[in-house]
Amino acid sequence: MRITDTSDMWWKNAVIYSLDVETFQDGSGDGVGDFAGLARRIDYLAELGVTCLWLMPFYPSPDEDDGYDITDYYGVDPRLGTLGDFVEVTRTAHDRGMRVIVDLVLNHTSDEHPWFKESRKSTDNPYRDWYVWRDTDPGDTSDKVVFPDEEDSIWEKDDKTGEWYLHNFYRFQPDLNIANPAVREEIARIIGFWTQLGVDGFRVDAVPFILETTGYTGEEKKELGDPMDFLRETCALLRRRTGDGILLGEVNVPYEDQYEFFGAERGDGLALQFDFIGMQKIYLAMARHDARPIVESLEKRASFPLARQTQWANFLRNHDELTLDKLTDSERREVFDAFGPQENMQVYDRGLKRRLPPMLDGDPRRIRMAYSLLFSLPGTPSIFYGEEIGMGENLAEEGRMAVRTPMQWTSEEGAGFSNAPRRRWVAPFPDGGYAPDHVNVADQRPDPESLYGFVRTLIFLHRRHPELGWAPTEVVDVGDPAVLVLAARGEDAIVVTVHNLSPEGRTVSVSVPRVEPDSRLVDLWEQEPLPVDPKKRFEVQLDGYGCRWFRIQSQADTRLY
Ligand code: NOJ
Repeated sequence: MRITDTSDMWWKNAVIYSLDVETFQDGSGDGVGDFAGLARRIDYLAELGVTCLWLMPFYPSPDEDDGYDITDYYGVDPRLGTLGDFVEVTRTAHDRGMRVIVDLVLNHTSDEHPWFKESRKSTDNPYRDWYVWRDTDPGDTSDKVVFPDEEDSIWEKDDKTGEWYLHNFYRFQPDLNIANPAVREEIARIIGFWTQLGVDGFRVDAVPFILETTGYTGEEKKELGDPMDFLRETCALLRRRTGDGILLGEVNVPYEDQYEFFGAERGDGLALQFDFIGMQKIYLAMARHDARPIVESLEKRASFPLARQTQWANFLRNHDELTLDKLTDSERREVFDAFGPQENMQVYDRGLKRRLPPMLDGDPRRIRMAYSLLFSLPGTPSIFYGEEIGMGENLAEEGRMAVRTPMQWTSEEGAGFSNAPRRRWVAPFPDGGYAPDHVNVADQRPDPESLYGFVRTLIFLHRRHPELGWAPTEVVDVGDPAVLVLAARGEDAIVVTVHNLSPEGRTVSVSVPRVEPDSRLVDLWEQEPLPVDPKKRFEVQLDGYGCRWFRIQSQADTRLY
């Protein structure tokens, strides 16, 4: 890896941290997180070592889908601050060496967006074709709904004109018509606006839904052409405007289809995509104490070799349900049984509304192993706020809101998130063992043995080893299905990570092929060279749920630790 690669293609070895401004830090004392509060916490994020902030939607919104229902793409919700406050945050983050990407929700607007208010007025309104309408009964589409608890169709009949509009998500989120050139121009303006304000890219919501053409007439389909061309043009626009801006796609489809969203071998599509399949296989592997599902997904993924400038974003948790939709019914059942057996822990028959630590019964060994595994996977790790301190969920909250409770900074009333009276807090904190008096930043930050200390070290190690983001990675077979050994082979060093998914201790014998003569073995957690010849087989001892990281370092590698 050349220095220019690792700095220019910053997303290839970034560490992403996603947060909702509303639940991170209240700066105004009204019980709602805001940009003024976030600005004060940028140093915390810099100290943790994250290199890219992903801000969930902060635009004006009726907030029926936690901000994913937008009424103005060019503003900041007044509850959260102003555009000026937004710029202060971006500028401060840049000053501390962090990139900022923001959620871009193009599939749909809120039904309260002025465009839709116009569109529904009459069939000849100039905004009519900004959305997707049909004049015939769509019939039963209940098998296509994304939120089966609340919707039974992806079409809604609108009384005013007696026609149906498309909404792949909730009925209050009408789908925009991207076949309409006016809509496409507006999208370019939105991207232009936020890049002028300094953002480094976008997390693009629901990409496959933006590009699918359900409900489009023959004429519209012709006008749209290949939807992938639209994606490529959008990526090219962003590159022209920023040089190194990225689109990180939410694309939960099979790997072969994700490959197309990357722009296949040309790599002129999305720069990054979340690995939803890999995430689901990790939970299956953890449930079984068997690493093979992870190996299978890594191998399948690698059978679609990425272009140099594209990258996987790995994650264990995000703001949504932990979806298990890509597992078979029986695999999903195994994960439910292991990590969320009660009905109130499950949503939409396909996912879990829990955070990781409660799913792992709070077992510190297993939680650390899970994060170590995440950071060892080839790609860019992405974490959700509060994961670094092991926050839990609040199951009393509806659906996905269970994992969107406020950040827990201290053990005080309001958890350092807000000093407003309890009744004004934007969401309640979890009770019991995961309440702020047990889980908070203030207690963990000074303690190197804490989960915070562990995650901070992982971030440090990830940044220190660009091999993890860049280098081809092999699975090293050690003959024990519970143990995953990965070797990321860089030019001058091989990073070897070893994870034990079983509760029992293990000793494995590791033999990494093609090691340079005179290489030495360094234990990265102990930050010390080992008296072992890495060209030969070497033994690695692991506790139950243990994890170890090594570097096999040639003479040319000058890293000291
Ligand atoms: C995906 C987002 O992650 C989710 O939170 C949202 O509800 C849907 N898209 C609709 O925007």
